[in-house]
Amino acid sequence: MNITIKRSKREVSRAAADHIAALVRKKPDAVLGLATGFTPLETYRELIRKHSEGLDFSHIVTFNLDEYIGYGMDLSLPYSKDQSYARFMHEEFFRHINIHRSNIHIPNGQADDPEEECLRYERRIRKAGGIDLQLLGIGRTGHWAFNEPGTPLDSRTHIQTLSETTLDDNHRLFFYKSGLEREMMPKRSITMGVGTILEARSLLMIATGKRKASVTAAALEGEISSLVTASAIRLFKGPATVLLDRGAASALQKQ
Ligand code: PGA
Repeated sequence: MNITIKRSKREVSRAAADHIAALVRKKPDAVLGLATGFTPLETYRELIRKHSEGLDFSHIVTFNLDEYIGYGMDLSLPYSKDQSYARFMHEEFFRHINIHRSNIHIPNGQADDPEEECLRYERRIRKAGGIDLQLLGIGRTGHWAFNEPGTPLDSRTHIQTLSETTLDDNHRLFFYKSGLEREMMPKRSITMGVGTILEARSLLMIATGKRKASVTAAALEGEISSLVTASAIRLFKGPATVLLDRGAASALQKQ
């Protein structure tokens, strides 16, 4: 695991975008695992800028980490305007680059049978040959994707009930430009499991801001435990890059 501490969120986002762009150039048909959240927004903006300078996503395949149950969509249908992570990804990234819609994968939170959707998602990842690089944030509960405390570190894509902390943190993102209230938040999601994430060929984890300091230290230096699912990064066998700004790194023992 390679941990780099940058001076600012901007620098973290630039370095993350450089890391992803290097793979896109080296392997134009790479399979990218993507994340939603406030943290990766600037990374996506930086990748959009690189695309405007010629970075080609036309053969890139993507798999997002998670989606709210009751939201999301079958991506072969016309784009919907709900408050889903599908919409977030479309508005903040996909519509600005030359990715093919058929190459985009996000769990469908509106599937008739969410359990079957979890299995289908795992099959799709396998069929695509696995994920070359998985981008990850970390939630204040220590979660990777929506793998809340107590989720086994060998879990597969599953239905996950969200903690109150996560609902508090995510409602601005969920109600993204809609002004709706926290009480309206969906409480369940479909998320890749920790075990699914650990099968990627490489990981890129980013965290910024002081509010992530204690959980980042717990993940990187505390006990490896299902109580902090991001601590599973230390079980990962392949290359793992961690990019932190000074705030997120401020509680680490080793700086
Ligand atoms: P955030 O979410 O980027 O909005 O802080 C991170 C996460 O939940 O993984």
